Amino acid sequence: MCGIIGYVGTKNAVDVIFNGLNKLEYRGYDSAGIAIVTSKNKLLIKKSIGKVDNLKKKIEKYPIFANIGIGHTRWATHGKSSKKNAHPHVDHKKNIALVHNGVIENYSELKKDLKKSGCKFISETDTEVIVHLIKKNYTYSLFNAVRKTLNVLTGSYALGILYKNEPDRIVCVKQDSPLIIGVGNNENFIASDISAILPYTRDMIFLENGDIAEITMDKIIIKDVKNNIKIRQIKNIKLKIIDVKKNGYNHFMLKEIFEQPSIVENILKDKIINDKDNKVLINEFKIKGNDIINVSNIYIVACGTSYHSGLVAKFLFEKFVKIPTEVDFASEFKYRDPILKKESLVIIISQSGETADTLSSLRIAKNKGCKTIAICNVVGSFISREATYVLYTHCGVEKSVASTKSFVGQLTILYMLVLEFLIKREIFGNYEIKKYIKELVKIPSKISEFLKETKSVTKIAEIFKNKKNCLYLGRHINYPIALEGALKLKEISYIHAEGYAAGEMKHGPIALIDKSMPVVVIAVESKIYQKIISNIEEARARGGIIIAIASKFDKEIIHKSDHVIYVPRVNEFISPFLTVIPLQLLAYYIAVLRGCNIDQPRNLAKSVTVE
Ligand code: AGP
Repeated sequence: MCGIIGYVGTKNAVDVIFNGLNKLEYRGYDSAGIAIVTSKNKLLIKKSIGKVDNLKKKIEKYPIFANIGIGHTRWATHGKSSKKNAHPHVDHKKNIALVHNGVIENYSELKKDLKKSGCKFISETDTEVIVHLIKKNYTYSLFNAVRKTLNVLTGSYALGILYKNEPDRIVCVKQDSPLIIGVGNNENFIASDISAILPYTRDMIFLENGDIAEITMDKIIIKDVKNNIKIRQIKNIKLKIIDVKKNGYNHFMLKEIFEQPSIVENILKDKIINDKDNKVLINEFKIKGNDIINVSNIYIVACGTSYHSGLVAKFLFEKFVKIPTEVDFASEFKYRDPILKKESLVIIISQSGETADTLSSLRIAKNKGCKTIAICNVVGSFISREATYVLYTHCGVEKSVASTKSFVGQLTILYMLVLEFLIKREIFGNYEIKKYIKELVKIPSKISEFLKETKSVTKIAEIFKNKKNCLYLGRHINYPIALEGALKLKEISYIHAEGYAAGEMKHGPIALIDKSMPVVVIAVESKIYQKIISNIEEARARGGIIIAIASKFDKEIIHKSDHVIYVPRVNEFISPFLTVIPLQLLAYYIAVLRGCNIDQPRNLAKSVTVE
């Protein structure tokens, strides 16, 4: 995680760095720092804990100007969020400054050796060893000192380095953490991602692993660790600059929840077409027929909320397409030697397209010769560029760290992908395709219907805002929604919540239930409705306070529960679209009442780029 940026040119580097850091804050916001070389050849470092704006306010009191500088926004891996652990880190003479995104895995041994040779450490970070090593390896050029240093580093790192005695250049390195160079006119940039420098240039170089670059205002030299020149293409990025606003909502999360009907509608509009004979066709995902027909089994790999959308898809692939489907956390998949055959299809789901574990899982699948489909939201992200096929959710920028609209976007794409399989494998004829689509097209208006009247949710939020724990139960296709509801509550309100398969509760978690325990149960119409009712009875018998998510017009549920949130009636197989919305809102309103930071909850980052 962490975001890094660097600038050399004729503008004020401080302004460019702050603009960039604001864009990079989704990668972490534990602390921020900048280093510049002033016109008097002084290396000036400023750091602050917390958000980038804290640092900005501090600096605004004493404005500074420089033509070169580097900046960092941190998500703490080694060492707590503190000023001394904030980047940039410096050598003991404060001549070299360095920013880092990634993890140095062998930092303990390196630190031990450096300490033996008299080196004094200021921070608890893994990063600080790098700057001391560069200092130690320096003879005549920063570039060569960095090159030499890389030989002993293990782990992932994107680095930006500034040396006051070579005040016209930044040296940067990429190894398993993203880094791009922005090519400008009499100015050049480095950044963790495009968005940070897009207002200044559209010409970008995507550095590859092992690349070391030296940038001055008019020159870019890229080499490898053996000093061989590397030629990298300059790509012109066509992306629009989107300045995302709250549009009158108090938080991005709420705005994004309310965007969900139009997200589903747009995906469906884009994917479903009627030909002139009024036959329903799917606007192809451009996946080759054979890459669908020959699939023997499916692995869906993702993290967090994206993993939950994968769990819903498992039900669909197995129920309709009859393909064995496994869903794995990316962090588990990559270390457990999954049995991948050439005919195994690996579906990678990631909003950001950048999650480190998900990206390395994709690479494992590719190395084993599997076809891969990436479902991403961020266009041009690493995962989207490396997969065999990419299906974009086109949800627009998701600013809130807690994912909502990207989940519903992923679900919509997955439901369409399942349909693509059903058509290509000739499981569905035209009649069944139409029937399937008929259900899907109801989703936007049903979500809107629910969002028009959310009083029941705010009322329940008020009652439960001070609880310490909460259980979420669901079964079958709504089991993943119970997990997602619990995740939302945990991450933004800091209330401990457990998502559980309702039938599994009596095998342990039921011991947690007493009269103070809220139990949110997804109990919409389905073929297992009566089973869920039995689970509600079991929880009630132990004193649990039942909050049911039920289908409108369900007359039985009110007698079985303490509180009910009714959602519009839909076919069971699309019910996750409806059941997740009240759970997102419940978490939101509880977090608001508790005074939490909704869009940037503590300890989190939007993109998890470390393993
Ligand atoms: C969800 O609210 C979380 N912020 C988190 O679990 C997220 O879904 C996870 O980190 C995966 O991110 P990705 O979809 O960008 O890969």
